Amino acid sequence: GDVAVLVPAAGAGLRLGPGGPKALRLLAGEPLLVHAIRRVAAAPSVRAIVVAAPASDVQAVRELLAPVAAVTVVPGGAERQESVSLALAAVPPGIDIVLVHDAARALTPPQLIEAVAAAVRAGHPAVIPVLPVVDTIKEVGPGPELEVVLGTVDRAVLRSVQTPQGFRHDVLAAVHAAAADSLTDDAGLVEKAGLPVTCVPGSELALKITRPMDLILAEALLHVS
Ligand code: CTP
Ligand code: MG
Repeated sequence: GDVAVLVPAAGAGLRLGPGGPKALRLLAGEPLLVHAIRRVAAAPSVRAIVVAAPASDVQAVRELLAPVAAVTVVPGGAERQESVSLALAAVPPGIDIVLVHDAARALTPPQLIEAVAAAVRAGHPAVIPVLPVVDTIKEVGPGPELEVVLGTVDRAVLRSVQTPQGFRHDVLAAVHAAAADSLTDDAGLVEKAGLPVTCVPGSELALKITRPMDLILAEALLHVS
């Protein structure tokens, strides 16, 4: 099965603070998107890469990535899900497996990308990388002044979810075509369609660079990734 990787990279990066679209923010002198694409291209199964870039930066992103890998760059949308749909529409013929991978997870190891693709190839229609939850998690509600605890969730059955998320091409196309409401991940659409979603072990290096502290952490992790 030939693998395509869709890379949503059109977000503003508001939580990272001022400094332009997150995918173009620098980590050790190179844009996050370059770090991400270099690792995607290093996964042996990957045959095609489609990047959804900020609409105003499409040409700049093409030029930026040309020396890194052969990529198709399309303008992204207002929501992540729309960016994924636009990238999905640009997948070349002959692709059986599609991975969706956030540019913000710029240090994701090629081995994790390969492991997700392998699990789809082995027969799982949808595959996500997960990590155990480390914090105690509580459900809260509004109180008279501050929030109050309603209960403690059993952490043992909870997982944090990363990308790349992998899908049979036909499954991802069907759930995206039918998507009515916006979700923060693509596997959520598959769940809603009643299909099984299978977990593989994630990687701490696949952290999503979201807040300023994550950039500091990522810079330190560059030495081990
Ligand atoms: N993304 C996208 N199109 C959007 C919104 C997000 O392609 N309209 C991408 C981001 O570029 C990122 C991934 O989806 O690679 C995960 O989103 P997130 O981490 O939330 O990034 P941003 O939306 O850029 O950040 P923020 O929510 O802080 O603005
Ligand atoms: Mg966002």
